[in-house]
Amino acid sequence: MFSIAGCSRHSIALFVLAQLFTGSTFANPIFPRQSNITTDILPTAVVQAFPPGTWIENIAIRQNGQILVTETTQPRMYQIDPFGVQQTVLVHEFNDTASVTGIVEADPDVFYVSTANLSSNFDVSYGQAYIYRIDMRTFTYKDPTSTKISRIASVPQNPALNGLAYLGNGTNTLVSADTLNGIIWSIDINTGEASVAINNTFTQPKGQAVNGLKTRGREIYFTNLVQQVLAKVPVDDRGRATGPTTVLANGTFEPDDFALDLNGDAYVTNAGQNTIVFVPREGGAAVPIATVAGPTSAAFGRTVEDCHVLYVSASGGDEAYMDGQADLVSGKVVKVEVGRQGMHKCSDQTEY
Ligand SMILES: *[C@@H]1O[C@H](CO)[C@@H](O)[C@H](O)[C@H]1NC(C)=O
Ligand SMILES: *[C@@H]1O[C@H](CO)[C@@H](O)[C@H](O)[C@H]1NC(C)=O
Ligand SMILES: *[C@@H]1O[C@H](CO)[C@@H](O)[C@H](O)[C@H]1NC(C)=O
Ligand SMILES: *[C@@H]1O[C@H](CO)[C@@H](O)[C@H](O)[C@H]1NC(C)=O
Ligand SMILES: *[C@@H]1O[C@H](CO)[C@@H](O)[C@H](O)[C@H]1NC(C)=O
Ligand SMILES: *[C@@H]1O[C@H](CO)[C@@H](O)[C@H](O)[C@H]1NC(C)=O
Repeated sequence: MFSIAGCSRHSIALFVLAQLFTGSTFANPIFPRQSNITTDILPTAVVQAFPPGTWIENIAIRQNGQILVTETTQPRMYQIDPFGVQQTVLVHEFNDTASVTGIVEADPDVFYVSTANLSSNFDVSYGQAYIYRIDMRTFTYKDPTSTKISRIASVPQNPALNGLAYLGNGTNTLVSADTLNGIIWSIDINTGEASVAINNTFTQPKGQAVNGLKTRGREIYFTNLVQQVLAKVPVDDRGRATGPTTVLANGTFEPDDFALDLNGDAYVTNAGQNTIVFVPREGGAAVPIATVAGPTSAAFGRTVEDCHVLYVSASGGDEAYMDGQADLVSGKVVKVEVGRQGMHKCSDQTEY
């Protein structure tokens, strides 16, 4: 038995009880907390497989543990129950763009997603892109259409909006990685105003550039696919850089999006090489820790049962593979028990 660093005592007590009554062992025998994350390749398990031809692009976890994912092959957003009680449901199909891309929670159980018109291999974007507010407090499995959804912003310049993050700490600011323009947008969730926040040598060039995006404190962490970089930059409350960009890892991966744990270590989807790589908080070599076909993004579980589990969204294959074999591969959500806790505290609120 091990305890999870950062979980409240109450949560740990529930965790122990759950084990006593079910006889299940959530403690990860393959990857106990003490093991060396830079040397072990961890097993994965499929949580949900989608039909062939489905590219699952991004992932976020609700405080009750339910998983939200976005799709780029159709403009859809789904909810998945990682505990296997409920069937996966369509939360919403958007009607004004071809794809749904980034997703992030801003207020408790209120999420924002970005939508865009992207070509299937992400090399062209056209027309408007939008930010929607998805109020999951109004969602029910019985009637997913009861979910309150509203368009709160439109973003100009044919943007390929990709990773999406919230600056937190009382700001009104979402930041969005525009992969094809090579910039980071700042979007005010109250006024809908969109402006360019960061445009520098690390977010550029135009092409498959800045991609995944997360915030921690007052820093934006981001990946750049063509530059093969994970970097971070301090920002103000509008998302504008207030200091130099620091490269944390570089040159050995083809990164898409990622998750950060409580300590700021990064779990990056290495989309071009079908692995998840670990990058320590102080920067350093990106080390493979799991194998996933076409991983696109990752997020930590948030309940006492799974706050040491990394959930990974996946396209089913890398872009080149998807191009030729789009009808053969199937997007997925898989889980990896990394034995580290994500940035949220572990919740014991698993009912839904
Ligand atoms: C983990 O393994 C790496 C590579 O062998 C080694 O450099 C590092 O010192 C180890 N860390 C710990 C905490 O054992
Ligand atoms: C698109 O969806 C919105 C609600 O999200 C709705 O108000 C609008 O009528 C729909 N447009 C079309 C053409 O179906
Ligand atoms: C974006 O995609 C939607 C849905 O496929 C389509 O109706 C719309 O015309 C597209 N916009 C542009 C500018 O092509
Ligand atoms: C970003 O910077 C580049 C190079 O300085 C410039 O050419 C480009 O117009 C800028 N893009 C935006 C959207 O400001
Ligand atoms: C959050 O906002 C408060 C008040 O504006 C400020 O003192 C604090 O430094 C901010 N925290 C971060 C991480 O920026
Ligand atoms: C990336 O790593 C290479 C060495 O592998 C180094 O020469 C280069 O300066 C690094 N680039 C950045 C932006 O840190």
